Amino acid sequence: MTTPAADKKLESCRICKSKNLIPYFDFKEMPLANRNLSLPELSSGEPKFPLQLLFCKDCGLSQLSMVVSAQFLYEEYPYRSSISQTFQKHCKEIVENLTHKLALKPNSLIVEIASNDGCLLSKFIQAGFQAIGVEPSRVIADEATAKGLPTLCRFWGKSTALQIQREFGTPQLIIGTNVLAHVDNLNAFLDAVNTALAADGYFVFEVPYMVNYIETLEFDTTYHEHLSYFLLSPLKHILESAGFRIIDVEKLNIHCGSIRVIACKKDAAPVASKNVDAFLAMEKSQGFLKEDIYLGFVSRIERLREDLRKLLSSLKQGSKRIAAYGASAKGNVLLNYCGINQETIDYIIDDTPLKQNKFQSGTHIPIVDKSYLVKARPDYLLILARNFSEEIISKTSEYQQAGGHYIIPLPDIKVIESPYGS
Ligand code: TMP
Repeated sequence: MTTPAADKKLESCRICKSKNLIPYFDFKEMPLANRNLSLPELSSGEPKFPLQLLFCKDCGLSQLSMVVSAQFLYEEYPYRSSISQTFQKHCKEIVENLTHKLALKPNSLIVEIASNDGCLLSKFIQAGFQAIGVEPSRVIADEATAKGLPTLCRFWGKSTALQIQREFGTPQLIIGTNVLAHVDNLNAFLDAVNTALAADGYFVFEVPYMVNYIETLEFDTTYHEHLSYFLLSPLKHILESAGFRIIDVEKLNIHCGSIRVIACKKDAAPVASKNVDAFLAMEKSQGFLKEDIYLGFVSRIERLREDLRKLLSSLKQGSKRIAAYGASAKGNVLLNYCGINQETIDYIIDDTPLKQNKFQSGTHIPIVDKSYLVKARPDYLLILARNFSEEIISKTSEYQQAGGHYIIPLPDIKVIESPYGS
């Protein structure tokens, strides 16, 4: 593992440049949530970085106080979006929804930014569009290309936008799911979208929604890759300053609550739906643009941490064996923040081959494949990839039938006892 290139302390708001930034949640030093360790790396030490959330009093953007270099974060990225059936279904819905809503013509050029292993790209291609992915991780981009999904291995920016124009033409749709939160220089990113996009084209993106984050305690989505935590209000600010207009927004269930935003160029014809003003008004009237709501959030998390620790320690005292499912970044944050380690959790199951036989950063809990559920059957399975709880419970039905129980940690701790006894 290389050591990071320059890390940067945030001097002013990423969107409105205000210095009116209020710190409200400090995790102190945390390891990288998506970086699993090999056996030799366990003894060589691992980097930790401050993880602290700031709220901008002027535009309402929550953001991390420090930026870890993108090259360092993404050089060995283990996340594969295709692993989840829930996300596969979601991608299918995106294609159907946008084809209809934006009246996309067959053969239109579509560009996906941060296309990962091509989960969404493949659905666009199956629907008859010409789709190109842009993905900065070499290994993941090569995997997508090997599956026949055209993918440029690049970070998104002006030169990538110009390359697309030169080599493929002018995109009618540029789309990014779960990428904007990862971007430090939003102005440069959006400027590149504006450069590439057709005059009557659309820019569509999905981001986790800060309203859900606060309401359902999604503090476990706070990690070094996620630099910004969006409301629609600051998004409107930055999109307008980059020459776009928001014409639609809708709430989605994916990743415990996201929004899909549709924007067009500022002088293009589409009329904005009423949803846009309704979202903006709700954010203001419900207090999301004021700091109080954020300051109150922290005590709720501290309570949850205590409750979860108490529950797990009482199970351990009763000689119960506990394992976890989903070596997700979220799970990493939850366990590290709550100080839960291998003394409590025997192993974490993950279906991603690249994660197996490694160790979670910080806690050093081993990550194993699903066969361990039978080989070393636990009494309780803590579902760390809680956004996919239903999918995980249904794929482990044999474990439940054999008397295995589940714990879902958030938004409220929920214990699902096996109906088959223990
Ligand atoms: P995410 O919450 O960041 O999307 O990560 C989910 C993690 O859970 C990822 O490491 C893959 C893992 N996972 C499985 O191993 N099996 C599954 O069936 C699902 C849905 C997720």
